Amino acid sequence: MSKEAEIILDGKSYKFPVVEGSEGEKAIDISNLRAQSGYITLDTGYKNTGATQSSITFLDGELGILHYRGYPIEQLAEKSNFLEVAYLLIYKELPTKEQLSTFSERITKHTNLHEDFKKIFDGFPSSAHPMGVLSSLVSSLTAFYPGSIDDTAGDDELDLTIVRLLAKMPTIAAWSYKNSKGQPLMYPKNDLDYCSNFLYMMFGMPNQEYKVDPLVAEALNVLLILHADHEQNCSTSTVRIVGSAHASLYSSVAAGINALWGPLHGGANQEVIEMLEQIKKDGGDVQKFVNKAKDKNDSFRLMGFGHRVYKNFDPRAKIIKKACDSILSKLGVKDPVLDIAKNLEETALKDPYFIERKLYPNVDFYSGIIYKALGLKPELFTVMFALGRLPGWIAQWKEMREAGEPIGRPRQVYVGSNKRDYVPIEKRK
Ligand code: CMC
Repeated sequence: MSKEAEIILDGKSYKFPVVEGSEGEKAIDISNLRAQSGYITLDTGYKNTGATQSSITFLDGELGILHYRGYPIEQLAEKSNFLEVAYLLIYKELPTKEQLSTFSERITKHTNLHEDFKKIFDGFPSSAHPMGVLSSLVSSLTAFYPGSIDDTAGDDELDLTIVRLLAKMPTIAAWSYKNSKGQPLMYPKNDLDYCSNFLYMMFGMPNQEYKVDPLVAEALNVLLILHADHEQNCSTSTVRIVGSAHASLYSSVAAGINALWGPLHGGANQEVIEMLEQIKKDGGDVQKFVNKAKDKNDSFRLMGFGHRVYKNFDPRAKIIKKACDSILSKLGVKDPVLDIAKNLEETALKDPYFIERKLYPNVDFYSGIIYKALGLKPELFTVMFALGRLPGWIAQWKEMREAGEPIGRPRQVYVGSNKRDYVPIEKRK
């Protein structure tokens, strides 16, 4: 017999079905609650609210499990490549050799940006944060490809929109970097793979030989895979809710980029490296900063620590920590902030404050150290996160639209003034 939940309100009983996911997650389906009882649920920050039923990503925060379409993140990070993972997330299954090569070829064909993009870049001051530039330019893709706005266009148009977005995002990201450095923009070199092409556009210079280090490209490949999806996080929920109004994929992803920029979300990776540098400059006393993070009168938090869902460990952080050691040693980079990070992690993990609150390093704690070793400046770290998260945003947007989900529109409990009459300005005190 299927389970039911009973809620008693004002002495009256209401029954609601219990929904069980394929990994045993349980939820009470209260979609009829208001219609039946007049009540709504109140859950700020959506800590207990399931916004959808999704078949893309499974994560278990207690056990530190993360699967994309059933495949463990550890296996994908070790054996797969980013475009293969993108295909898996968006089209539900791992691609065959032929499917992957067609997909990669299509993406490669669309890596160029319309020349008019340069005029938009010219309008940004070189001090512009690359995340703001990225979101503006992704939004401006609607101007170059108006077919993407038509919410009645068929699957072929949507597929082209998806391919264009995956193809152009690295070019936009690299050009925003070049713009901020005042350097000439580099056109994509389409005999290179996705990650190498991005690195070429970032670090190459016209008329100069630039060979992409395969170690660096591989490190980037792993980082992008680790960031590719993370179910209903803040930016993904943003993408889904914007898309639920039938806004275009480009507009929805631009909104997701803005959400990701926040320091409590993807922006934390930039904040982590700045925090570690600050600790180094201050003499390296990690205990002092742990104490600051515990002090409720101090707004300082240990950036890269804590997670809404992971309460044991973040499996992505485990892979990244290992990768960090190996990449730095392979590249021959000795970065003192890595020792500070390890020391900080060790000190915090022994501290009752962090133990009681189940605060562990998250994906952002070590990723910045790798990005730094790869030659990226901190303002670009969140751009790298966005590049990685793109297939997840696309897959989630597509899933929501294919399921015909209704427009997202939460309710509220109003706690403001009761009705009162307008007071003319001369009579106001
Ligand atoms: N340093 C110090 N205290 C913390 C931290 C931290 N990094 N994170 C949480 N706490 C404390 C918090 O003060 C609260 O204490 P109390 O119970 O005494 O009030 C308790 O732990 C629970 O924290 P919360 O803010 O209620 O938890 P949340 O689930 O709302 O927030 C979080 C999760 C990730 C926003 C938060 O842990 C945080 O701000 N971390 C630092 C920023 C960060 O690293 N963000 C990246 C997240 S992973 C990448 C991504 O997917 O976005």
